[in-house]
Amino acid sequence: MKNILVVGGAGYIGSHVVKMLKAQGYNPVVYDNLSKGHPQAVQDVILEEGDLGDKTRLAEVFQKHHIEAVMHFAAFIEVGESVKEPSKYYHNNVSSVLNLLDCMVEHQIFYFVFSSTAATFGEPIHPKISETHPQNPINPYGNTKLMVEKILEDFDHAYGLKSVALRYFNASGADESGQIGESHTPETHLIPLVLQAAAGKRESIKVFGNDYPTPDGTCVRDYVHVNDLARAHILALEKMEKENKSLRYNLGSGSGFSVAELINQAKAITGIDFKVEYQARRAGDPAVLVADPAKAQAELGWTPQYDLKQIIATAWNWEKNRRF
Ligand SMILES: NC(=O)c1ccc[n+]([C@@H]2O[C@H](COP(=O)([O-])OP(=O)(O)OC[C@H]3O[C@@H](n4cnc5c(N)ncnc54)[C@H](O)[C@@H]3O)[C@@H](O)[C@H]2O)c1
Repeated sequence: MKNILVVGGAGYIGSHVVKMLKAQGYNPVVYDNLSKGHPQAVQDVILEEGDLGDKTRLAEVFQKHHIEAVMHFAAFIEVGESVKEPSKYYHNNVSSVLNLLDCMVEHQIFYFVFSSTAATFGEPIHPKISETHPQNPINPYGNTKLMVEKILEDFDHAYGLKSVALRYFNASGADESGQIGESHTPETHLIPLVLQAAAGKRESIKVFGNDYPTPDGTCVRDYVHVNDLARAHILALEKMEKENKSLRYNLGSGSGFSVAELINQAKAITGIDFKVEYQARRAGDPAVLVADPAKAQAELGWTPQYDLKQIIATAWNWEKNRRF
């Protein structure tokens, strides 16, 4: 199975997966409407412009490239916006995905890899979140991702469409080449915001809450390098195909770092003492979110290779020389 349609492949995570697929001998084809993605992120690979909601265009692309499997990254990703504009999120992240899945079934394409998220779990009730942790999202963004996971279970039962749902924790870092990296507008993720403060592109970094029940009072998160995620996608695709069964994995390092620790590491790596402003907590931010990656380790042989220092260093390399 070599011809993979990468929907949302012009975005941050998708473009890293495309690069790795190509390096491993696959033929990725990117399908993206460029609403948030960047054509420059798609290098030496065919980019088919199109929207997830456009069945005719999808059918045309499936046939033209003899697509055998789909990796799906396209979604709106801002939690705060999803609370203010849920309709936009349910349309793009659920209805349009249903459209893509229907189109896959019509064209007899039965392998699907889905970008899910730690946000499907909501408030953690165990210190580390494994695949058996209850899924109770606390915002529309998390709801949309859990709905697609449920749709995928039903599509397996009814149509035999096999899927992998990968629940990423905090995707971060950039490819070592410096050619591709994280570029969201607006940027809401901590590491790029911190590094933009270091680069003088922002006056300061705002930290929401330093009175959480954590060792230094700031929130603790699990950061996983985008190329480690990319490797997990390919391992999971191959396992799904080989065993012809649907799979679910939580992808994180299993180690938590506080916002204050991350900022200190960023100051050490960049050598810049940027300004930090502490503000009140934001609603809906759990104190600690850390993955239990034991299942991915045991079943995929996947262990993250990049530690937090390497994550920050690669993100800094990208931030200093970014092309888009
Ligand atoms: N970045 C993270 O930390 C993180 C964590 C957990 C889950 N995820 C999930 O991973 C996926 C990728 O995230 P990202 O950070 O790369 O986002 P991104 O915004 O960089 O990439 C998404 C891509 O999808 C495209 N797209 C969006 N809607 C589309 C549509 N209707 N038709 C065609 N293309 C469309 C955009 O143009 C963009 O290129 C998302 O599904 C997100 O929910 C991301």
